[in-house]
Amino acid sequence: MASAPREQWSSRTGFLLAAIGSAVGLGNMWRFSYLTAENGGAAFVVLYLGITLLVGLPVLLAELVVGRGSQESPIRALVHYGGARWRPLGVVFVTAGFLILAYYGVIAGWTLRYAATALFVGFDADVADRFSDIAQGGDAFGCHVLFMLATIAIVAGGVAAGIERTALILMPALFVLVCGLALYAATLDGGEAGYAYYLSTDFHKILSIDVLKDAAGQAFFSLSLGMGAILTFGSYLGRDNHLPNESLVIASADVGIAFLAGLVVFPLIFALGLSDKVSGSTVGALFITLPQAFAEMGGVGRVVGTLFFAALVVGALTSAISLLEVVTASAIDTLGWSRRRAAWLTGAAITLLGIPAAWSLDVLGVMDEVANNLFLLGGGLALAFFVGWVMPDPIGAVRVGAEGVRWFFLWRALLRFAVPAVLLFVLYRAVPDTLANVWALLAG
Ligand code: PHE
Repeated sequence: MASAPREQWSSRTGFLLAAIGSAVGLGNMWRFSYLTAENGGAAFVVLYLGITLLVGLPVLLAELVVGRGSQESPIRALVHYGGARWRPLGVVFVTAGFLILAYYGVIAGWTLRYAATALFVGFDADVADRFSDIAQGGDAFGCHVLFMLATIAIVAGGVAAGIERTALILMPALFVLVCGLALYAATLDGGEAGYAYYLSTDFHKILSIDVLKDAAGQAFFSLSLGMGAILTFGSYLGRDNHLPNESLVIASADVGIAFLAGLVVFPLIFALGLSDKVSGSTVGALFITLPQAFAEMGGVGRVVGTLFFAALVVGALTSAISLLEVVTASAIDTLGWSRRRAAWLTGAAITLLGIPAAWSLDVLGVMDEVANNLFLLGGGLALAFFVGWVMPDPIGAVRVGAEGVRWFFLWRALLRFAVPAVLLFVLYRAVPDTLANVWALLAG
């Protein structure tokens, strides 16, 4: 098929900010703070860092290599290197894009609503009681639609003019916001207990397999791995990028912002004496406890609350863009659609798929679990296997633009042995639980 030349990033900074934008999102604030709270503070953070280094980074680099080397969206990229029998994995990636964005858009819709509430009316103390009304039903769906419209419009604008330009504006803003909020949180009386909780370590917890499972799931979700998002972004890169360096920059920024978000969330919650209300639900820390804190802070709470939820909206938007781009790019490349048509049609389908998640928190929770435990971890395993064992000469491909690096054999060894071993172990523990939860939901 003779087609127009493939779109490209217009600058290295633009690419990096777009990839960091994909990685930094609700995962860094919503999932990270809640998992940390649930799994006993820094013990979890340490394990999460270890998994990010040992498992996340090699897979991140692998996705970039497959994307850049093939100059194709996921389905065709896998066929390019592995032949037609790898097409189904590409289809699984695109399916994951549909599934994740459908519920991610719903949560992003709540953040939009919370940002508007903080700005225009301020939170009141009974936000906890009203959360389940805000989060489920027609309003939740309406906010999801608004959020999806913004996402689709940006992706329809193209790689450089839409995605890259958005990231160039929004990511520096997000960084400033989170730093400012962390500094502000440091001035609060009584915040020390929050730091102590966040940063003190109960190493016994690290030995628990559930914590390992959560840490692995979080590492993949937060780095946007296992469903072709980074692969697709990599496919718009040229030959002069040093991919190991790009991977390091992306992963460090992602971990750094997650860590900073914890420095915002925990002191705030503890300074206002709400620590007993932290966990209990996936959304508790962020959408119930924090707004209560903002309500108690009065006028200052309105300002801080607006900025906090604005940061969340920004993070969610740049991540959602990358999710939609996987689906859109695949529709462009495999169906021959124009970018606008692909973005609007697939975006509309995903918006509709969000309906069950917008109407039920239980459905949303199960979608999140399936996405993480089955799709991302399973997709990461398959991709590590693919690059480690199937792709011809991955080392030759990664070396382009990084000729001086000597340790690529180590990278391939990690992809061949360590990454599959960890992921197989985690999947072995996670899959039965996840399937049981799916079954329980369906059986109602
Ligand atoms: N990394 C994003 C976040 O932390 C979520 C995401 C997952 C984006 C998978 C793209 C692909 O919010």
